[in-house]
Amino acid sequence: MDIAHDAIAPDAAPATPAKPPLIRREDYRPYPWLVPQTELHFALGIEKTRIASKLTVERNPAADPSQELRLNGDGLTALSVKVDGEPVNDWAMDGSDLVVALPAAAHTVEIVTEIDPSANTQLMGLYASNGMLCTQCEAEGFRRITFFPDRPDVLSTFRVRMEGPKAAFPVLLCNGNKTSKGDLEGGRHFAEWHDPWPKPSYLFALVAGDLVANSAPFTTVSGRKVECNIWVRAEDIARTDHALESLHRSMKWDEETFEREYDLDLFNIVAVSDFNMGAMENKGLNVFNTKYVLADRDTATDADFDAVEGVIAHEYFHNWSGNRVTCRDWFQLSLKEGFTVLRDQLFSQDMRGEAVKRIEDVRILRAAQFPEDAGPLAHPIRPDSYREISNFYTATVYNKGAEVIRMMRSMAGPERFRRGTDLYFDRHDGEAATCEDFVKAIEDGGEIDLANFRKWYSTAGTPVVKIEQRGRPRDDQAELIFRQFLRKPDGSEEPSSFTIPLRIRPYDTFDGEWLAAEQLVVLENPTEVILIDDRTGALSVNRGFTAPVIIERKITDGQLAILARVDDDPFARYEALQELAVSHLVAAASGDHRADGETALIEAFRAILTDDALDDSMRGELLMLPAETYLFEAMAVGERKADPGAIHAAREGLKAAIGGALASEFYALYDRAQNVAHDDPQGRGARKVKTQVLVYAASTDPAKAAELAANQFDRADNMTDRQGALMVLCGIEGSARETALKAFYERFKGNDLVIDKWFTLQALSLHPDVIAQVEELAKHSDFTMKNPNRVRSLYMAFAGNPQGFHDASGAGYRMIADVILALDPVNPQTAARFVSPLGRWRRIEPGRAALMKAALERIAAAPDLSRDTSEQVSRSLDG
Ligand code: TRP
Ligand code: ZN
Repeated sequence: MDIAHDAIAPDAAPATPAKPPLIRREDYRPYPWLVPQTELHFALGIEKTRIASKLTVERNPAADPSQELRLNGDGLTALSVKVDGEPVNDWAMDGSDLVVALPAAAHTVEIVTEIDPSANTQLMGLYASNGMLCTQCEAEGFRRITFFPDRPDVLSTFRVRMEGPKAAFPVLLCNGNKTSKGDLEGGRHFAEWHDPWPKPSYLFALVAGDLVANSAPFTTVSGRKVECNIWVRAEDIARTDHALESLHRSMKWDEETFEREYDLDLFNIVAVSDFNMGAMENKGLNVFNTKYVLADRDTATDADFDAVEGVIAHEYFHNWSGNRVTCRDWFQLSLKEGFTVLRDQLFSQDMRGEAVKRIEDVRILRAAQFPEDAGPLAHPIRPDSYREISNFYTATVYNKGAEVIRMMRSMAGPERFRRGTDLYFDRHDGEAATCEDFVKAIEDGGEIDLANFRKWYSTAGTPVVKIEQRGRPRDDQAELIFRQFLRKPDGSEEPSSFTIPLRIRPYDTFDGEWLAAEQLVVLENPTEVILIDDRTGALSVNRGFTAPVIIERKITDGQLAILARVDDDPFARYEALQELAVSHLVAAASGDHRADGETALIEAFRAILTDDALDDSMRGELLMLPAETYLFEAMAVGERKADPGAIHAAREGLKAAIGGALASEFYALYDRAQNVAHDDPQGRGARKVKTQVLVYAASTDPAKAAELAANQFDRADNMTDRQGALMVLCGIEGSARETALKAFYERFKGNDLVIDKWFTLQALSLHPDVIAQVEELAKHSDFTMKNPNRVRSLYMAFAGNPQGFHDASGAGYRMIADVILALDPVNPQTAARFVSPLGRWRRIEPGRAALMKAALERIAAAPDLSRDTSEQVSRSLDG
């Protein structure tokens, strides 16, 4: 074809590229074939891996019959296709799927493919990382390895043979149990694995590399010995004890709490430095981001230790909630993720204390999920459609999904909830189930009616509950009126009727006493009225955050300050303080600086600093002001838009006011905390409040803060103190900042996870030149777009830095758009995750909104966008 002809071809470069097809939940059909057995032979090499598969297929009696077998592929070519042992020509490619004609009721189908793992920068399928080979198959990565019905409702028993050079890959791991191994000619060796539990392809995994293990057996409740291994590179082995202990604690907890026992003789965890997400629950062979495995006192913060424990637990718990019972289709993702997040949250509450963990979880929900639910990417926890499933691994599916199941537990009570989950596991073990199956099991086993409750699965948006108290003349009771609605994008209120369980308790602020025991109110109608004691001056409401809703009510600053001091529910105490701070900050950002509100906050903070009954872990939580993203939500109500500049100024102003008024209390706390030994049971709390003091000091007296922080940094014998000090120093101009950054880098260069922190602290900083600093860091020799942890360490941190990202010039928005465009061809899944911060433009004041929208439009106009990014950008512009 000549050039001139090419230029006028009608289908050359369409003006608007076609949108990827929409996949709908209602279109679900069972697969026409069962695949009882799958055999895979891997001839492994970093640049060339050959895969020979043999599928045993038979007609699925529960599906519409079909004469053809459609196997998904992605970027694959078949080198050969055989049916029943004979090469056939009766096959064709339909797009990237391979379709074979199959006349009879049962066949074997053999296919050979070849791939280049070293060229796989998307990190989906089989890829190379640091000289080893590993896989990531959820959600649709298996089809990048071999042709297969790559959908979660096709369960198969896998037998795998792995073969490769022994020097490069001394360790060969796969799902299930190792059945044989041996040496081959030419320095090669092999291992054969059999997984007795039928599983969908997304749970397949293999790892080949030069790894060592930290091992310790776990004996299950029925007395079976399970070999547990944490596999890492030799230089990392000293940082694996915490992961191994966390695994054992998780195994024990799941036996005790949900009566779930592990079901193989082997449990392997492998740490990988190039990974798109946190970790993956492949059967018997979990693959983890190194970030959620490696931890020691010198290189990991207390929060890192908690994250390791939480993610290890999460992936382990998937063995039942996800693997033994899996998902029918990807619309049911919350079936495994929401439930497993709830399970890991309950586990961490038991390990570390309920109140602090609950506060942390609610903070994440409000900072990440509430904005998602209020923006263009909002979707129900069980979505109705998608174009790219990777875009639906969201805070909504995970965290709101967990809240929805937690509400069922609150209404049924823990014992009846357990009867429900027992029934769920009994009924659906070995199956691919739906969210509806789960709700039905809780309904039947827990003996509660969840008919109306199901709305939570089908409806997006965070309900608002408006509460009003109205006195009744000649009566000692008052009416408590609850009105629930969803706030639409145009600001209007649409009445709703979700089932909303609220734990409440009335308090008499005048006499200073509780008026009744706590009760659980369950709302089911747009308006509901209950009666309470009319002496109720302040209602403690949504205690423990029983429902993921926004409470709006008229309550005075003074009443909130009282609840913040006296509430007997520690979570409610935190809530009162947050409510006080939110209302003050939103008013201040809207131009109404209320001196009395500030005074009330200062007094509430004084009480927190000096209340001996509080432990420092809780004190540290209480001292944190609401996140700016959450304040945007609170400000952008009705016609009013969020003003990031004004919110930032108001929040910084409040920090300075509190820090200034309570300087001596803060420093006294610092002195006390400084003398708590690292291993003291109070040590964690002490470290947490020390950094909080530095944060307030930085807003009040930067010179003093820099001095204290530099001192803390120099003396630190642990990463928590060191990182806390460096975080504060990063925001203060001057030589202490440069000295500490340099010392930190020199000490930890070569340790990727710690160097990630070095990038993050600078990208998150309050320094006025943060944008220029991030641009400079992107040129650093340690920066690369190929490693997701490194990309996130710089740019996700920056996108979460309200001052930098929302700079009025628009430079922050342009930078993130540039990142998306540069990253999209390398790793679309990770690139698409940067779209949502820009997608919030509709709720932001018009000047910035126009700049955010322009950044999105520039991305949308780029040629050859991935399915991932194009879906997120078009939803962000249209939705
Ligand atoms: N199922 C994993 C979890 O525990 C999530 C996950 C890991 C994932 N890697 C992924 C999802 C890659 C999509 C793509 O939550
Ligand atoms: Zn999960």
